[in-house]
Amino acid sequence: MSGTVSRGEKVVLDDPELGAAVGAGLTRVEDMLHSVVRNDLDFINETSLHLMAAGGKRFRPLFTLLAGQFGDPEHENVTKSAVVVELIHLATLYHDDVMDEATMRRGAVSANNRWTNSVAILTGDYLFSHASRLVADLGTDAARMIAETFGELVTGQLRETVGPVDGENPVNHYLSVIWQKTGSLIAIAGRFGGLFSGAPAEQVAALYEYGAVIGTAFQISDDIIDITSESADSGKTPGTDLREGVHTLPALYELAGDPKPRLAELLSGPITDEDQVQEALVMLRECEGMRQAKATLESYAERAANTLDALPDGSAKRALNALTRYVIDRTN
Ligand code: IPE
Ligand code: IPE
Ligand code: MG
Ligand code: MG
Repeated sequence: MSGTVSRGEKVVLDDPELGAAVGAGLTRVEDMLHSVVRNDLDFINETSLHLMAAGGKRFRPLFTLLAGQFGDPEHENVTKSAVVVELIHLATLYHDDVMDEATMRRGAVSANNRWTNSVAILTGDYLFSHASRLVADLGTDAARMIAETFGELVTGQLRETVGPVDGENPVNHYLSVIWQKTGSLIAIAGRFGGLFSGAPAEQVAALYEYGAVIGTAFQISDDIIDITSESADSGKTPGTDLREGVHTLPALYELAGDPKPRLAELLSGPITDEDQVQEALVMLRECEGMRQAKATLESYAERAANTLDALPDGSAKRALNALTRYVIDRTN
C-alpha cells in the first residue's frame, strides 16, 4: 500500500493483500467522510470540506483499519468508527488553529485565516455534531467513550494553555498534556478498530495501549517537526509553538539543562518578532535538548513493541510495527 500517509511519507505494508484491503477501507472512509458532512447550504459545505479536501494524512483512520484486522475488518462499524475519530480530529484542527492563530493547515490557508475565527469555531462545532450523530449508531458505550475522550482532549488543550501549576515538573506536565490532547484520541482509534471488528477483549486492550503509546509519540514528533521542518513538508508554519509561547519537549529539556543565555532569553515568553522566531528555531535545532527529545521519541519504539505482545503474529502486527517506525522516523 502506498500514498495513504501523504506528503511524501508512507507507511509501507509488506503484504500486498493487506495493503489492498486497507486501501479499499480508506476509500470507504473517504466516501463516508464527504457524505456525512453534506449540507443544503453551500457556505457550510465550503467551510467544512475545506480542510478535508486540503489533504491530511488520515493517520487515525489508517490505525483503526489496521486494528480492525484482528477481527472482521469488513464490518461496517469499523469504517464508521474510523470516520467518527477523523471527524473529531478534524473539528479539533479548526479549533486548534484559532487557539494557535495559525495561518496554514494541510498546505492550505487555515479556516480562521481564510474566513474568521467565528467561522472556524462554528465549522469545528458542525463537524463535531456530525461525529456525535454518527457515534450514536455505534451504541451508548461507544458514545460514552467518545465523550470521555473528547473531555480528555479538551482538558489537555486547556492545561497546555494554562501551563504547569505551581511545583509541577514541566516535562511531566508536557507528557501528560500530550497524552490527553493527542494520545487519547489515537488510543480510541485503535480500540474502536479492535472492538467493532469483534477482536478478543485482550487484543482490544492491547490496541488501546499501543495507540496510547504511539499517539503520545506522534505528538512528540509533531512538536519536533514544528522546530525542524520547512512548511512545505508539514503543510503548517514552523515555529507556531514558539509564537504561542508553548514549550515543547526539546525546549523543556534544554531549559532544564544548560541553555545558552540567549536561547533562555528568547524562550522566556511568546516570541512575536519573526527574526527572533527564526533565531530561536536555529538554536533549538542544534541544542542538547533536541538530541534528548529525539532519544525520548526513539524510546517509544520499544514501549510500543511491548504493547503488541498480546497480538497474534502476522501481517497486521507487522503493519503496526511499520506504523511505529513511521511515527518515529517522520522527524528525519
Ligand atoms: C495534527 O495531526 C495535530 C496533532 C495532534 C499533532 P495530524 O498530523 O494527524 O494532522 P493531519 O490530519 O495529517 O492534517
Ligand atoms: C494540537 O497540537 C493537538 C490537537 C489538535 C488536539 P498542535 O497545536 O501541536 O497541533 P498542530 O501542530 O497545530 O497540528
Ligand atoms: Mg496547533
Ligand atoms: Mg504542532
